[in-house]
Amino acid sequence: MLITLDGRETLQRQVYRAVRAQILAGQLGPGTRLPTTRGLSEQLGVSRNTVVAAYRQLTDEGYAVARTGSGSFVANTLPEQHLEGISAQLLGEAASDGSQAGPDTAEPSTPLSTRARRIGAVAPRRLGWEMPRHPVEIDFRYGEPGFADVPLETWWRLTARRARRATARQLGYGPRAGAPELQRALAGYLARARGVRCTPGQVLIVHGTQQAIDLTIRTLVDPGDPVAVEEPGYFGITYALLAHGARVRLIAVDPQGMPFDGLVAAGAVRGIFVTPSHQFPTGGILPLRRRLALLEHAAHMGAFVFEDDYDGEYRYDGRPIESLQGLDPAGRVLYAGSASKLLFPALRIGWLVVPEELVDPFQQAKALCDTGSPGLDQLVLADFIEEGHLERYIRRARLCHAARREALAEAVARYLGEAAHLEGTGAGVHGLLWLPDVPADRQAEVRRACARRSVGVYPVRPHYRNPPPRAGFVLGFAGLEPPAITEGIARLAQAIDEVMGHA
Ligand SMILES: Cc1ncc(COP(=O)(O)O)c(C=O)c1O
Repeated sequence: MLITLDGRETLQRQVYRAVRAQILAGQLGPGTRLPTTRGLSEQLGVSRNTVVAAYRQLTDEGYAVARTGSGSFVANTLPEQHLEGISAQLLGEAASDGSQAGPDTAEPSTPLSTRARRIGAVAPRRLGWEMPRHPVEIDFRYGEPGFADVPLETWWRLTARRARRATARQLGYGPRAGAPELQRALAGYLARARGVRCTPGQVLIVHGTQQAIDLTIRTLVDPGDPVAVEEPGYFGITYALLAHGARVRLIAVDPQGMPFDGLVAAGAVRGIFVTPSHQFPTGGILPLRRRLALLEHAAHMGAFVFEDDYDGEYRYDGRPIESLQGLDPAGRVLYAGSASKLLFPALRIGWLVVPEELVDPFQQAKALCDTGSPGLDQLVLADFIEEGHLERYIRRARLCHAARREALAEAVARYLGEAAHLEGTGAGVHGLLWLPDVPADRQAEVRRACARRSVGVYPVRPHYRNPPPRAGFVLGFAGLEPPAITEGIARLAQAIDEVMGHA
């Protein structure tokens, strides 16, 4: 293998870019062993440490895997391939033709920072959260509430009232932590509904969970730090960590979420990101025993725990399970919640409850980032909570969602039977449908066959770093009424038959 350096940037960057280019060009195919660090350092006339550091970056970014004792190998699934799946999902089918997605290889003439280059390497060029709205009759999209359930009339009424009465103080720069009215309202709501124990001063108002993730990483993680995440898991966490230069330790989840022995096997980590109330995307609910063990382990390591409670309000078999934060005597948990799944994502309002001793560093980080979140919307949300609208709506929505979940389970049993396995519907507003007889490489065909029947389904694959060999779809049911769910699954069954040749 001939690797040449181009003399631009540091030696480590040159080695990294040269090897990466060969991997991307297919000259080093999946599974191929990379040259030894000694051999390559001699060939290039650079120090061995330079090659080791370049290989580490390739490993951290998912281009290579290191096997103890036998060297480094090209990864079987490259980040770009993995990301194309996400792009296709996030950006629509148009992106999957390769013309709009994937990394931008052209280097801009204005040099980018190391961080920006890392983002370019780990994330799709047009990474974004907007999901295309295909004109399908029955859309199992996930990640949003059913907008028809949200009391929007009330929201607009409260918005108009706040706008009419806005004072000069409310129109100026607000407190960096957020409106005190909303901090108070949330501290009360989170104690009642989620068992979170905090003072209003511990509540930081942010632009959705994604900003809570970003601030946590900036404030508590250094580049090179190992951090545990769930596999499969929420890609917004993984990208933010990789972009920051953290080392991601994947903990494979089981039907109950993050297993304790997997966490222990990952070794010492700086932090643990977890979705305990409804694992994303598999839907497991972390049992109390595991919660306590995780907290004890984190306290022992001196690690923080980031609790992403993105849809914990909805649990169907018994009361909503209380947060990890409420169980934590050591003050290690940062609890994040969001209005995105409850009201609507466009609000861009979330909340991060931090331990007392971290309040100041987090407020500083937030202030420097954006000087604070939009003030009037925060006041409207405070009114919405204090006047009881939020909890009334959640109670009503829980009943509707329970009926939708029943319909989904019944339809899967009726139309797919043994050919499918539905998991993760004990809480939240999506389930994960595994199709054990459909190989992963036929998944896109099933998706297209569904689209021809005017049904939208979304593969689970993009949420894996190491995708499984069988097909699986994340089915959101928040926006669909039971008859539509039943009809949608009947059409999915026909689509599978067509693709697998049973029709
Ligand atoms: C598991 C999970 N966490 C967090 C988020 C981020 O939500 P937001 O930034 O809108 O609050 C999402 C969004 O899809 C999610 O699925």
